[in-house]
Order: sequence, then C-alpha cells, then structure tokens
Amino acid sequence: MRSNAPTARSGRHFLQIPGPTNVPDRVLRAIAMPVIDHRGPDFAELAKEVVAGMKRVFKTDGMVALYPSSGTGAWEAALSNTLSPGDHVLMFETGQFASLWRTMAERLGLDVEFVPGDWRHGVDPAQVEATLAADRAHRVKAVCVVHNETSTGVASRIAEIRAAIDRTRHPALFMVDTISSLASADYRHDEWGVDVTVGGAQKGLMLPPGLGFNAISKKALAAAETARLPRSYWDWRAMADVAQTGVLPYTPPTNLLFGLRESLHMLLDEEGLDAVFRRHARHAEATRRAVAGWDLEIVCADPREYSRTLTAVLVPEGHDSDRLREIILDDFDMSLGTGLGRLKGRAFRIGHLGWFNDLMLCGTLSGVEMGLRRAGIPHRPGGAAAALDYLGATTA
Ligand SMILES: Cc1ncc(COP(=O)(O)O)c(C=O)c1O
Repeated sequence: MRSNAPTARSGRHFLQIPGPTNVPDRVLRAIAMPVIDHRGPDFAELAKEVVAGMKRVFKTDGMVALYPSSGTGAWEAALSNTLSPGDHVLMFETGQFASLWRTMAERLGLDVEFVPGDWRHGVDPAQVEATLAADRAHRVKAVCVVHNETSTGVASRIAEIRAAIDRTRHPALFMVDTISSLASADYRHDEWGVDVTVGGAQKGLMLPPGLGFNAISKKALAAAETARLPRSYWDWRAMADVAQTGVLPYTPPTNLLFGLRESLHMLLDEEGLDAVFRRHARHAEATRRAVAGWDLEIVCADPREYSRTLTAVLVPEGHDSDRLREIILDDFDMSLGTGLGRLKGRAFRIGHLGWFNDLMLCGTLSGVEMGLRRAGIPHRPGGAAAALDYLGATTA
C-alpha cells in the first residue's frame, strides 16, 4: 500500500506514465498563488490570454472552449454539442481510449459503427474513404478518431484521413482526440480541416489534470445550432464570447489557468512548438532504439504510426508486465504506464512527453533495463546504452 505520507526515499520520483506528466517547478509556482475574483479585470485578462495561447497550440483561428474537466468531459462536449439522438457515427477500434469514446457515444444515444482493429495499427485512411464513399445517403454524421492512442503508442495520420474524407466529398464532421499528442506532436486544427479537436491539460501542456478543451470549426458551430442531444454544462454557446470578454459561464479553475499561462509561455514563446515537437520525436526514437536493443517488441506495428509521446512495449509470452512495473516502482521509484484493456499484463508503456529532457530519458530507460533484469524478463542487455549512443550523437 502506498500513501501520500512522506517516504524515506531520497531523490525524485520518476513519473513516466503517458500522462499526467511531470509538472515544471515554475508551473507549480505559478499555480501556488492566491485565488483571484473570476469576475474581476485580472481574471478576464488571464482568460483572454490563455484562450489566445490555446488557439496557437491548436493552430486555429476559430473558437476554443475550455472546461474544468478531465479529457473525458471534453469528449462529451464534442459529441453532445454537434449530434442528435440516433445519429450514425464512425469510430475505430485503435485501442482502449477509442473504445471508451465509443462507449460514451453509445450511452449518449448515438448509433456507432465501430470499425474493428488489432490495437497495433491506427485508422486506415483507405478504409475511411471506402466507408464514406459507400455511404451515398450521408448517414454518417461524424468521423471520430483518436490521434495518439495512449494505450498502444500508435498515432493515426490525421492529414491523410482528412484527404481521404475530402476525396469522397462526404459532409460528415471530423472529430479528433489529441489528449496525448497536443503540444507534443505536430497538429493543425484548421489546416487539417478538423471540426472538433479534443484536448486535455495533463500531458503535453504539462499541467496537473483538470482542464479539457475543444477547438471548434465554423461547421461544427453551425451543427451545434441544430444538434438535439441534451447538453447544458457542455454547451459551447455559453462560451462563445470568452475570447473577447474573458468571462466564463461558471466558476473557472483559476489557479490551473495561472499554470496554463506559464506553460503556454514556455511552449510557445521560449522553446517554440517546432522545437518541442523535435524534442519529442528524438526522445521517441531513442526509446525505440532502447527497446530494439533489448530485443523486445513494441506494440505499434507500422513505423509511419509511431507515437511521439509514448512507447508501449510487449513483454514475452508467459511474463507479466504489471509485475515488472511493480518491481520498477518498488526498487527504483519510477511509475510506468500499465497495459490497458486487452494489453493488460502484456505490455507496459513508457511516457516520454511533457517536461522532459535527455537525462530524464536516460534515467527512465536505465530503470526499465534494471527492472527487466530483476523481473527475470528475457531480454538482451544494452538497450539503454543504444539510446545513449543515439542521444549523444544527435541534437534536437
Ligand atoms: C487519448 C486519450 N483520450 C481520452 C482520455 C481520457 O481523458 P481523461 O482521463 O483526462 O478523462 C485519455 C486519458 O489518458 C487519453 O489518453
């Protein structure tokens, strides 16, 4: 049993799950401020500033809605603002999170066509094209895709899926979950013609959990005018003027927004998004080199779909990935992501996103390699050294 009581451990805990991620000290300090009046002028400036910053992160000129919620709330906002009971939506079984979004859609009363998948591949643009081309009656009202499947480390190719939709001239809305890719991997809401992008605070944005986002196209806003799913708390219309007024329709999570202002400053103004993306890509490559060095297999089966933010690693048949995680936590004070859904016990996930650098990755990979040894999992030693070689020879 673990508790929040101080432990006798020395040094920092390694939080290497694929979100929530490590929160920078300066973001923690920004959060640790007195609460201010959320109807006063200082708050209005803060809200306008963070909404403007989030538009730059999503790469949109359109509306961004912000909720005091986890990512799941932002999923619900995307569906409930745009769709009506019984609407047919196309979803894809890329992994656990896509499956959860599907369950939510069904609970909301939508008619989900769930394209089966093997949890090792992303959404196939050709399949999207074929399905929409065959739908001459335009029954499909929305295509919903998880950009970066956090359960598998597989990233779907959003621009290619958009191009596939365009070739069919199908009018369905395009919704994308970027909860574990936003502000870590290239993403372009406007350019890629996405209608609703779903985001969360606790991964690439380097904040504690508690903020959900929707970036919303004009087409999605128009759909919201006629959509009939019940909605109240999630209603975008209550938030239409936030970018101009800085007034939110409910009590906002003021101090998380102080933190968001700081993290946006770090990402957008100091490091720059392109450099952030390069940093993540390089750490992902180094991690894959380590896994190859251990002679283990990663879950993602298509190099075009490698995740930039996490790597899910399969353990050999007959071994338990949760036992490995337990040993690594007990012996080296590092948390790794558990295998989810059908990967339970079969895979562990290394998060390499957010506030992260070369030496944190070296520590992470060293902890995994020592853990593999202590857990008696068959592997070839030297994976961490292969990553070191790569990191030493390259810069972001
Ligand atoms: C891709 C993806 N979608 C949705 C969610 C659900 O978000 P939350 O747990 O913040 O509600 C997660 C959480 O990890 C996720 O990784």
